[in-house]
Amino acid sequence: MPLVHMGDMLGHAYRNGYAVGAFDLVSLDFLEAIMSAAERCRAPVVLSLAESHFDYFDFELVMPAVEAAADRASVPVAIHLDHGASLESAVHGINLGCNGVMVDASLEPFDQNVARTRRVVDMAHSCGVPVEGELGYVAGVEGEDAERHPGEVIYTSVEDASAYVERTGVDFLAVSIGTVHGRMKTRPDLDFERLEAINAALQLPLVIHGGTGLSDEQFRRLVAAGVAKINYYTALSDAAAARIADNVASGARGGYTALVKSVQAAISNEVERCIRLWGSADRADALLDECRPWQPVEHLIIYNVGDAGADYVEAMMTEGHEVLGAIPGVRRVFTGEAVQHETGYRYCWLVRFAHPAVIDSYREHPAHRAFADKLFRPVAADRISIDYRAAGVPGAARGVAAESAKTFNR
Ligand code: 13P
Repeated sequence: MPLVHMGDMLGHAYRNGYAVGAFDLVSLDFLEAIMSAAERCRAPVVLSLAESHFDYFDFELVMPAVEAAADRASVPVAIHLDHGASLESAVHGINLGCNGVMVDASLEPFDQNVARTRRVVDMAHSCGVPVEGELGYVAGVEGEDAERHPGEVIYTSVEDASAYVERTGVDFLAVSIGTVHGRMKTRPDLDFERLEAINAALQLPLVIHGGTGLSDEQFRRLVAAGVAKINYYTALSDAAAARIADNVASGARGGYTALVKSVQAAISNEVERCIRLWGSADRADALLDECRPWQPVEHLIIYNVGDAGADYVEAMMTEGHEVLGAIPGVRRVFTGEAVQHETGYRYCWLVRFAHPAVIDSYREHPAHRAFADKLFRPVAADRISIDYRAAGVPGAARGVAAESAKTFNR
């Protein structure tokens, strides 16, 4: 249950004057460290997965662990794709379990940034997923020396920000006001006047990237000016590396586990420091009361195929896995055959949707329509189709079927 709507989460932070930490994770040590700090502080948290880090871990392999961590949490959690480059990245992230996505087209000219972001927003909103866009450019690379990848900071202009939000429909905006991704030798100068003007014009949760290296006072001023999410990674990576270096220096023996001993604690302490500084500690319970839980829907069809043969059914199922599994918001496609045939219906589809919004967008999606019209409906007139959300699960919201669910043959 503690997976919540990220829009509700950041809306709560924005209205109540604090920022939620979005901590990029690159391993299970990071995941456990972030979650234990959030639990200690009773704080909401964003588990953030940056596309630029996908060279270091297998996104598909890590996501089930991230979801499991969110599932067993007692504090509100959102799972966010950080710096997704394209529409395909966003679909992939949502279909693997992200319930918030960032599209980063910030290096593109304004109109191209708007166009790409708009496409992602249309797709993501049809899955119930909120979107973070970026305008202006925050230079640098997470986890590296900022000076090695200086790029050119492009500041966000107030006028462009208003036009961008209106034309794209983004839910949160990452702004560039002088922060840089990565490790810096000096503190950056931040343009707070610009931030305040953007906040006054937009009145929507703002996001700061490049959190590492800012002073306590700079963080306080960011939060006071409408920043509801702060992205943070390099300092966590450095805390982990420093602990490994200490272990080596103190003659650690025993291979890998000896070298990474207490790495989680080092990361977790830094996460806790940030959570307390950004004001999100002790917000979990109020937020859980006010946020909608994020709940998947199981789309169940049980059916018979009349005279169609087993080969036809198998080919249809194989194609269904490929075609339906690629539709935005589809988390999983299961096809099955009844173990006992006398039960009435011989075959089933069980398609997991990320969110109830997918019930409609899936039904109307051209790939679904083509598949259903061409292969499925002609043979499966005898069928029952129902959309379910979880009920009777400890901690899950009560309810039998999704609001828009109907029992009908179609
Ligand atoms: P830092 O690595 O500078 O903390 O920035 C993280 C970030 O912005 C991730 O999107």
